[in-house]
Amino acid sequence: MVALPLVAGWLTLSGFAQDPPANTAGATPPASSLSEAGRTLYMRYCASCHGMDARGDGPAAAALRVPPTDLARLARANHGAFPAARVTDAIDGRIRIPVHGTREMPIWGERLGDDIGNRDTREEVVRGRIWLLVEYLRTLQR
Ligand code: HEC
Repeated sequence: MVALPLVAGWLTLSGFAQDPPANTAGATPPASSLSEAGRTLYMRYCASCHGMDARGDGPAAAALRVPPTDLARLARANHGAFPAARVTDAIDGRIRIPVHGTREMPIWGERLGDDIGNRDTREEVVRGRIWLLVEYLRTLQR
């Protein structure tokens, strides 16, 4: 058998090595890898305010005038259905017209692509990262 070591090598390189063997034949990354990527983004950009478990109790929360939303209860607050579109818009922040006061939540649509030079690519990356975050938050609902 020559194929097995090749597959194992590809899995190691692509970072999917910890996934169950049932997923190894698929061309698309397993769902668990996507939520893992979303988790990495969440820990880097969101946990300081929203907390490690997304309950709104991060170390920076006390300094804010508006308490960060408990992101693990978005579905519960919406009659049991995870409001993916609204969450996407809330994270992006660019399409919301500021009505009154300052918005405490950073406008992530302007920041999540800071490391990408090309404008068109940046927009794609921003959308992709927001999507990963939304899908990660979906897995946290309780
Ligand atoms: C500086 C603190 C801070 C950081 C960092 C932060 N948030 Fe927030 N977030 C808030 C606050 C405060 C609110 C409450 C509403 C508001 O101020 O707009 C909020 C609200 C939200 C909402 C709206 C929930 C609803 O009711 O629809 C979502 C979704 C959200 N945050 C996701 C995120 C994600 C994802 C990240 C990381 C990319 C993040 N937040 C990072 C402070 C923060």
